[in-house]
Amino acid sequence: MRYFSIKKTGASTAHAWRVLPVVCIVFLLTAFRSGESASMKIVSVNGTMSEIICSLGLESSLVGIDVTSTYPASLDKVAKIGHNRSVSSEGIVALAPSLVVGMQNDLKPTIIEQLTSSNIKTKLFTQDLSIEGTKKLITEAGVYFNQPAKAAALIAQLDKDIASVKKPSVKKKVLFIYARGAGSMMVSGTGTSVDKIIQLSGGQNAVTSFVDYKPLTAEALLAANPDVILLFDSGLESVGGVEGLLKVQGIAQTNAGKNKKIVTMDGQLLTGFGPRLGKAMIDLSSKLQ
Ligand code: HEM
Repeated sequence: MRYFSIKKTGASTAHAWRVLPVVCIVFLLTAFRSGESASMKIVSVNGTMSEIICSLGLESSLVGIDVTSTYPASLDKVAKIGHNRSVSSEGIVALAPSLVVGMQNDLKPTIIEQLTSSNIKTKLFTQDLSIEGTKKLITEAGVYFNQPAKAAALIAQLDKDIASVKKPSVKKKVLFIYARGAGSMMVSGTGTSVDKIIQLSGGQNAVTSFVDYKPLTAEALLAANPDVILLFDSGLESVGGVEGLLKVQGIAQTNAGKNKKIVTMDGQLLTGFGPRLGKAMIDLSSKLQ
């Protein structure tokens, strides 16, 4: 039937031959792109990148993730390759990915070299811990993974969430403790993701005397004298809940300890600076009221 209609007139035959190459090129490009996405085997060494990849509709391409990749919960069944702060190449190579994705600093140069020599591509994004930086990251990931429209929708939702943040009227002093059991507790100084989200949510970091993390000491606690102590849900659990935390030397003497103003949030939500940044700000600002 189609054969006859093409042959019907000389003009339509000529037209068909003219458009055929264009149709073929478009078809091949589309097939190549979707084929590439579908066949990509990705290891993500960063919880925020895992979250963005899933939000862009590529969850089925993930063959390995680090332990901070806790969202969405369905990632539970994907193979784990350790913490993004201590990634090794052996665990990654064993999963035979075509691509390893993370942030700058997640992979040491020697690991990148080892992956490259195993024919594994690496793509490290830059993460600026701010609202604009988060939007830029999502946009760049959208372009890289050929999903710009999905990235734009994530940013629109992020803007909507941020518009409904209600910051507390008083800027409370907040101390963040990263705990993995009572014997392993660190406090956040400036420049960390927690420091930034505390400020974006209308609080102030109680510790400004150093950059990054340092082990917690009773003296530092008293000097900081926070109004609020913030931990990951998993962190508070690891020290035996509020009762356990109050037994740690120095905690009960702070304003936060005296008033039992101890709040927790999911770790990846609090520190991710990804598509759920606005939701994290809504949650934390309500806890700092
Ligand atoms: C030397 C430092 C660190 C060690 C030894 C460490 C260790 C661990 C371990 C063992 C886990 C998985 C175990 C579990 O789920 O309970 C974990 C999870 C996690 N870590 Fe770390 N970590 C360190 C630093 C950090 C820092 C600085 C951050 C960011 C502020 C971070 C963010 C997370 C997140 C988001 C998870 C996912 C599970 C959760 O929410 O607890 N880690 N870490």
